[in-house]
Amino acid sequence: MRFTVEWFDRLASTNAYMKEHISRDLPLKNGTVFATREQTAGRGRSDRKWQSAPDTNLCFSLFLQTDCELIQVPSLTMAVALAVTDFLNGQNIPARPKWPNDVLVGTHKICGILSERVEKSNKSAAGIIIGIGLNVNMTNQEAESIDRPATSILIETGNAANLSQTLEALFHPLEYWIGQWQNGGFSNLRNCWTEKSGPIGKTLTVHDGAIKKSGTLAGFGDHGELLLQTENGIETIWSGDVS
Ligand code: BTN
Repeated sequence: MRFTVEWFDRLASTNAYMKEHISRDLPLKNGTVFATREQTAGRGRSDRKWQSAPDTNLCFSLFLQTDCELIQVPSLTMAVALAVTDFLNGQNIPARPKWPNDVLVGTHKICGILSERVEKSNKSAAGIIIGIGLNVNMTNQEAESIDRPATSILIETGNAANLSQTLEALFHPLEYWIGQWQNGGFSNLRNCWTEKSGPIGKTLTVHDGAIKKSGTLAGFGDHGELLLQTENGIETIWSGDVS
């Protein structure tokens, strides 16, 4: 995959900007990356905010041209979480993926991923916008102002990092894990995902809106869906927050 990067000083949301680009039928090649030094109205899962002050964190969207089915999108997000995990582990940060779309260090979130399937109005091209927010230079004080436990590369290592160098360093693991997904879907991710996010049998509670389900982790289905062993048998979970 060839990555082509365009940097912006400030965008409301890199995902929204890329979507707008597609809806205006502007050309968008496979591997295009829109990255911004400041994000003012970023979005996460369940419409949560994902903002970033100037030159603080990495906020970018990667366009992957694919006509895959909607059901395959969650496992692409998981492939990207494995790529970010590999990158952070290579920096000696003990990160691990968390189902469905996070990367954590201990209990603190360092990266969130939001993948959105898009199709051009004239159906000439389809693909997935993969939005990645990686906390790079967020300070402890900034992390404490977020309503959920958060961390960053700076907090974990004591060193600030250059945003464009960090982005470039992510390309190799992204290429590897997206390639794994393209060649075999979740079956190519299952072992590594389970090893890093498991273990099987751990106690979990899944919240999805007003619904709350408790059980133990039985594994992951063919598309990365979470299999929860409950007293009523194995339940298949497609979305939610796990604690
Ligand atoms: C989540 O944890 O819920 C997903 C967060 C995704 C945030 C990234 S930052 C770059 C891209 N642009 C957005 O508006 N969101 C994603």
